This record gives sequence, C-alpha cells and structure tokens, in this order.
Amino acid sequence: MSYDLVVIGTGPGGYVCAIRAAQLGLKTAVVEKRKTHGGTCLNVGCIPSKALLHASHMFEDARDHFAKLGIGINPPKLDLKQMQSFKQEGVDGNTKGVEFLLKKNKIDVFQGTARIAAAGQVEVTGEDGSNQLVQTKNIVIATGSDVARLPGIEIDEKTIVSSTGALELQSVPKRLVVIGAGVIGLELGSVWRRLGSEVTVVEYLDRILPGMDGDVAKNFQRILSKQGFQFKLGAKVTKAEKGAKGVTLTFEPAAGGNPEKIEADVVLVAIGRVPYTQGLGLDELGVQKDNRGRILTDAHFSTNVTGIYAIGDVIAGPMLAHKAEDEGVAVAEILAGKAGHVNYDVIPSVVYTFPEVASVGKTEEELKAAGIAYNVGKFPFTANGRAKVNHTTDGFVKVLADATTDKVLGVHIIGAEAGNLIHEAVIAMEFGGSSEDIARSCHAHPTLAEAVKEAALAVEKRAIHM
Ligand code: FAD
Ligand code: NAI
Repeated sequence: MSYDLVVIGTGPGGYVCAIRAAQLGLKTAVVEKRKTHGGTCLNVGCIPSKALLHASHMFEDARDHFAKLGIGINPPKLDLKQMQSFKQEGVDGNTKGVEFLLKKNKIDVFQGTARIAAAGQVEVTGEDGSNQLVQTKNIVIATGSDVARLPGIEIDEKTIVSSTGALELQSVPKRLVVIGAGVIGLELGSVWRRLGSEVTVVEYLDRILPGMDGDVAKNFQRILSKQGFQFKLGAKVTKAEKGAKGVTLTFEPAAGGNPEKIEADVVLVAIGRVPYTQGLGLDELGVQKDNRGRILTDAHFSTNVTGIYAIGDVIAGPMLAHKAEDEGVAVAEILAGKAGHVNYDVIPSVVYTFPEVASVGKTEEELKAAGIAYNVGKFPFTANGRAKVNHTTDGFVKVLADATTDKVLGVHIIGAEAGNLIHEAVIAMEFGGSSEDIARSCHAHPTLAEAVKEAALAVEKRAIHM
C-alpha cells in the first residue's frame, strides 16, 4: 500500500484535509483510532454540545417564555433520556456523514492507532493488535487535543467530569460547580442551568472568557449572572474531596488568602485542552514541539522533518474546528502544488450560549497594546426593531475600525444569532473592507443584522436609531 498522503486523525482538520487532497487528485488514506469519524468535534465536542444547547434552550423557552408570547402550555417536563437520544442522533448523523464523504472521495480508511515509524511510513495497530505498515509520500498529523487536567483532581466522568462526562450526565445535578469560565464552562454550564442546576463557576482569572474583548466579557458576565450563574473570580481550586453526597471543593483567592469551601453534586473541569500526540513516536523521529507540547510547524504546516506536516488543535492557534478545517484545506493544496493559506487575522469565534457571543479580529485590548489608533461604533440590540419585537434585546454589536483608514479591525457581538451575524464582518474583513463599506450596504428590515450596519454607522457617529 502506497499513498501520496496519509492523514492521521479524522477530526475536522483531518477529514477535510483528506477530502481536499482527494479532490486535487492525491491518492489519500486516513487513519482513525475511534470507531467513528469526526474527532472531538463531532463525537464529544461541537456537535453534541450544540444539540444539548439547542434542546435545553427550547426547554427553557417553553418553561419561562412561552406564556409571555401567548402560548399556554402545561409546564414542560424534562425527559433527559430522550434529550440525550436526540443529541446522539445528531452525532450519529454527522459522523456517518463523514464516513460517506470519505467513501465518496475514494479515500482509504484504516481503523487503528497510527505511529509514524519513519518519514513515509505509518504503522497502524488495530484493536485486535494487528499491525500494518502503510507507505506514503507525505503524512499530515491531525490528532487534535485532549482535556487539560488539574493536578490532584481526578476526573472520573461521573462526579468529577470533563466536557465529555458533562455531555453524558443522566440526571440533572442539583449543584454544578464549573472550574474555568472559558467556552466549555459557560456553554455546558448554560445547558445544565437551563435544565435546573444551580451553577457556580470558579475561575482563576478576574474575568470570564479570557482572550475575548474585555467590554464584551464584562457585559456577558452581567447577563449570565441575571440568568442565575454564580461566579467566583480570581479563585484557585486547591482540593476536591469526594464524599457520599458529592464533592467538596476548596478554593482560595488566586492572589493568596483564606480558603473557602463549596459543595457540588457534579464538578466540571473545563480549564482548557492540551495537544494530543501520545503514541505517535514524535520524539524518536525528532519532531520538534513548543513548550506547550504543540507540534512546531512553519508557514506551510511542515514540521522540521521533511514529509511530516501537522494541522488543527495539535499545533498553535485557536483550538477551533473551522481553524482546523481551513488548515486541512491549506496543507492539502500546498501538497498538490497550490498556494494554500490561512488568514489567522480573520478567524471567527463563537460562544453558543443565549445570547451568543461572537467575535472576529482584534479586541480593544489588543489594539491598545499594539498602539493602533481606532474608532469604536457600538449599537445595542435594545434599539434594533427585530430584537425589540422578539424580546431578545440583551447585547450589542461593536465595530472597531482603524482611525486613519477606517479598515475594520475587529467586530464583537453579544446577542441572539451573534454566531450567524459575525460572518458579515468576516467577509468584510477578508475583503479588507471599511466600516463605511458595511454601513453603506443595504440590510434587510427587520433583521438583527441591521444592528451590524448601525454599529458600522456609529463608527462615524451617525447611527440612525440611536
Ligand atoms: P480532533 O477533532 O481532536 O480529532 C483528532 C482525531 O485524531 C480524533 O478522532 C482522534 O481519535 C484521532 N487520533 C488521535 N491520535 C491518533 C492516532 N495516533 N492514530 C489514529 N487516530 C488518532 N470548536 C468549534 O469551532 N466550535 C465549537 O462549537 C466547539 N465546541 C466544542 C465543544 C467541546 C465540548 C469541545 C471539547 C471542543 C469544542 N470545539 C469547538 C473544539 C473542536 O472540537 C476542536 O477544535 C476540533 O475538534 C479540532 O479538530 P482536529 O481535527 O484538530 O482534532
Ligand atoms: P478555555 O481556554 O476556553 O477556558 C479555560 C478557562 O479556565 C480559562 O478562563 C482559564 O483562565 C481557566 N482556568 C485555567 N486553569 C484554571 C484553574 N486551575 N482554576 C480555575 N480556572 C482555571 O478552555 P475550555 O473552556 O476548557 O475549552 C477548551 C477549548 O475548546 C477552547 O480552546 C475552545 O477554543 C474550544 N471550544 C470551543 C467552543 C466554541 O467554539 N464554541 C466550545 C467549547 C470548546
């Protein structure tokens, strides 16, 4: 067996890379150790979390908001078993979709764990212990990431869970304590809060969602607090003791001080993810990694060993499915002799809570740190007709534009549908557009997207509805 390309891992990075390579005429194979394709994203990440976010949002709407809309129903009853089946059906549909696409593109699939025996040689060990050696001109490592752990706090996926266990809970915990106010903590915290949990988030830093625009994070925290989230910021968890009735967590101020205790039925550890390179044989090959264990690559996704490339969560950059996908396409194009490229300045990021939080480009903090003069245009959803009529007025759109050229440098949105709205900004920025370009583009009425136009108008202080 000999290939032009063997991709290790069929997450969003790997399977998309393989499909693009096959489209470009490369003889391509993939190796996957999971029984299903789609990686973290489809199996235990993006897809199941969005299924539960959707279902729990519907439940909360029916329970708390339908009456106001004039829809009278008996209080809805939670059937968590059915909600979990709904989630699983979505996961199965998506993972089978990837299987179909691999077949359609005539990509050979090896099921098993890959180890790179040498450049050009991938050894695949099946579950039954069988070994195959696959020859290939090029190898793309797309092995993704794994849950980051807290020393001394053992994840059992029952009472102390990672995101994987938090997606599988079979009953609603009365008290859920989340360690880490990042994306996973707030998304999965939202799911269980909507279904009835009291949710407390313990975060090491003095803010939520590090890396997001500070103004956005502050406002979003206020919205979440109104929904019932409790926050312990600037707090360091030092101990977790399991007892008959759950877990006692001890935490203390990050800056030092008196410890406090908090009781939980379930603790979700969501303090980030780490690159996954276990068993690949990288050290023996001399493949270089950075000080965070991420595989080092050049601008063409090549490692320091000729013929071995890496993409996705296993290399530097945001750990996002669409970033992995775009890198997969780029490296396939490079291997086919084309000019594959990823524009890291324009990678959107979305938190799928309600309201959603979406952002692309630079934050105000980043612009200040870089000494770039900028103008701000901000427009609240309270002044948007569609948001008003829908009673979804939490949040705003903020456009940051270069003070001299008016080029859009960043857009940040809190609001219903923010994850869809952000793509207008993505396109504008990809084309090097200005806030005036957005402001002069006709936006249909009544839409939430009009708030993006108004925020762009507000850059020059000429919003109409404010
Ligand atoms: P992965 O998806 O991790 O895939 C790697 C694959 O490689 C796995 O299938 C693994 O089994 C396989 N593998 C590893 N080692 C070997 C080996 N030696 N041999 C064979 N196979 C191997 N991102 C978003 O953009 N949007 C979201 O909404 C979102 N939600 C998330 C929710 C949760 C709860 C989590 C945990 C993550 C979420 N992410 C989200 C992040 C997203 O899942 C990752 O960024 C994305 O999956 C990375 O893709 P990847 O292809 O690099 O790796
Ligand atoms: P994260 O990096 O988003 O957040 C982790 C949080 O934990 C940070 O706020 C950090 O300060 C805090 N923290 C770290 N150590 C701590 C400690 N000891 N005590 C208390 N707090 C601590 O990581 P998260 O939420 O685990 O998500 C992992 C990755 O998955 C993210 O990089 C994200 O990109 C991706 N993801 C993306 C989603 C999306 O795009 N909607 C959804 C879920 C995950």
